[in-house]
Amino acid sequence: MTTRDRWVTVGTSEDARESPSLVCRITEMVCEAYGYRRLDECEVLHRLQMGDAGCRANRVLHLAWEKCAGDDAPTLVGCCSSTVQPMWTEYGCGHWGLMVVAPAFQGSGVGSLLVAAAEARLASRKCSQIQIEYEYTSGDPTSERLLAWYEGKCGFICPQSLPAQRGRRQFRRCRKRVIKPVPENDTRRTSPAKKPDAPCPADPPTCKQGLSRVCPRLSQGLWYIASVLVPTGHCPVGSSSTKLSSREEPCKSSTHAAD
Ligand SMILES: CC(C)(COP(=O)(O)OP(=O)(O)OC[C@H]1O[C@@H](n2cnc3c(N)ncnc32)[C@H](O)[C@@H]1OP(=O)(O)O)[C@@H](O)C(=O)NCCC(=O)NCCS
Repeated sequence: MTTRDRWVTVGTSEDARESPSLVCRITEMVCEAYGYRRLDECEVLHRLQMGDAGCRANRVLHLAWEKCAGDDAPTLVGCCSSTVQPMWTEYGCGHWGLMVVAPAFQGSGVGSLLVAAAEARLASRKCSQIQIEYEYTSGDPTSERLLAWYEGKCGFICPQSLPAQRGRRQFRRCRKRVIKPVPENDTRRTSPAKKPDAPCPADPPTCKQGLSRVCPRLSQGLWYIASVLVPTGHCPVGSSSTKLSSREEPCKSSTHAAD
């Protein structure tokens, strides 16, 4: 039996520099799995560059790798994106998408590994919910399998689903709550005085969040305008040195686009 290792990384432009064929391999894998030209190399490179911001990154491209005993180098076997704050969800609702496994590796657990990596990242960035979207055709075996996975095993719920009509394509927008596992040695329950986990040192400054709770869409629009007018990376309102509560919104400096 061959020993095989699988792991997931966050892609960066350094990966693309180190392996000049990587961008092309990702592009081909995505297009082959989807069966149409879902994206091009420019977009893939752009997505890898987003990972350069490390734990400040908003959207990243997760890459799944496999290496069998005797292999010289790991093989790219899948990818997916995760976004802490997309433009189309309210504050606190992250997103994953572009879920793709190289056809030769489908059905062997790579997709589940990618979901786990994306959801762990969103949970670590304090998302309380996750949204996904996908197209579903009732009666189509692949589609039914996907629905059973997303809305079964993965635990998503599609609140506004219309009655399925056989053969008719449907857009499904699903949500789930993020359940953060409590580490076994976590003392927070027994010791309320314990300080919360230290934030990621590279996290952007946070800003007062009040408006986003009242009207998330208006708030997002204002954030966008403010970030264009104030290109310093500082919070456009309040002071970045002000001590702020944990329910506050991160400054938006990353690019947002549909997955
Ligand atoms: C859907 C996909 C990402 C799943 O990845 P995977 O590595 O095959 O998944 P896993 O082996 O971890 O299995 C998880 C679930 O995925 C689903 N799945 C696996 N292969 C699948 C396939 N070829 N088509 C549809 N769903 C599939 C199954 O529901 C499976 O659960 P099950 O084994 O209990 O039935 C992968 O098949 C793929 O890339 N498909 C083409 C692209 C696509 O449709 N992406 C989703 C767009 S929304």
